[in-house]
Amino acid sequence: MLRSILIYLSQAAWARRLVMRLPPARRTAFRFVAGEQLEDALKVVAELNEGGMLVTLDLLGEHTEDAAATEQSAQNICAALEGIAANQLRSGISLKLTQIGLQLDEGLCAGNLETILKTARQHGIFVRVDTEDSPWLEATLGLVRGMQDKGYENVGAVIQSYLYRSDGDVAALAEEGITIRLVKGAYKEPPEIAYPKKADVDAAFDRQTEILLKASKQHPIRQKGDWPPLAAIATHDEARVRFAEQCAEELGLDKQLVEFQMLYGIRRELQRDLAARGYPVRVYVPFGTQWYPYFMRRLAERPANLWFFVSNLVRR
Ligand code: FDA
Repeated sequence: MLRSILIYLSQAAWARRLVMRLPPARRTAFRFVAGEQLEDALKVVAELNEGGMLVTLDLLGEHTEDAAATEQSAQNICAALEGIAANQLRSGISLKLTQIGLQLDEGLCAGNLETILKTARQHGIFVRVDTEDSPWLEATLGLVRGMQDKGYENVGAVIQSYLYRSDGDVAALAEEGITIRLVKGAYKEPPEIAYPKKADVDAAFDRQTEILLKASKQHPIRQKGDWPPLAAIATHDEARVRFAEQCAEELGLDKQLVEFQMLYGIRRELQRDLAARGYPVRVYVPFGTQWYPYFMRRLAERPANLWFFVSNLVRR
């Protein structure tokens, strides 16, 4: 119930205007966001790299409302790519397709995505296309596949375990050699298409981890530089992490073929522990002024975050 309300609020313009004006919201959000400017984010990336972590940098933004603004977003993402390259950072990029025009026109979005992929390829940087809520899923997977077919090897997809269809999507994409970030899913989806119960989502996550790791055993993708392997297991759930590790051990998989990914500011000790045990660990580092929906989804995932925010508000 609380999760549904927060996810609804994450998409409500009136709530965004209200919450973004509150200094405690900003303070709480900046536990999960690396700053508003590219320079802030690049500093955080450098620190994480020094600590042995790989990064995927995300210029926050979604549901951009006019064509010129989507092109500006693509240029800003290219500036982030240039920043990563100029500072020789070990980082890829994550982006959302509604940020670069998917809700306006698929052709516009494809053009912006290709501009970004071209710039990224020039610098040997990998681009992960995040998955948003289900209305955008088919087009998102279609665009990722289309770019692979055009020869962009530096692009990968995200699959959400909570969708009933995801076992099939994981198997199909892995067979096509498209690298996958596996996540539980952060949006509110109806029971007709997604598991409503956490236990079922967890079971699906483990099942899909196994499909993905078996595919990695059969077709180990050669990584370029710091690019992610076929399997990126993105969760802070220790039981899911242990399952993935056990599965990889039983398959005799090289640790470099199993990347763990977590969000900036969440479960840092688990990130360090996995890196110390020889797995690649990538931290998703968001930055930018449009932090509201990302922040609200993080509140929805964990009531303790909401409590921290509300207690700051009351204290003020
Ligand atoms: P779960 O929610 O069960 O949490 C397990 C434990 O992790 C909690 O008990 C708590 O200790 C800790 N934890 C989890 N969330 C926390 C939070 N917000 N604050 C503090 N502690 C927290 N989703 C999506 O739909 N599309 C996408 O493209 C992506 N991309 C993405 C990239 C990366 C690198 C990650 C890690 C996650 C995503 N997600 C995503 C989000 C994902 O779908 C999911 O909502 C979150 O990862 C939370 O789920 P967990 O797997 O961590 O498990």
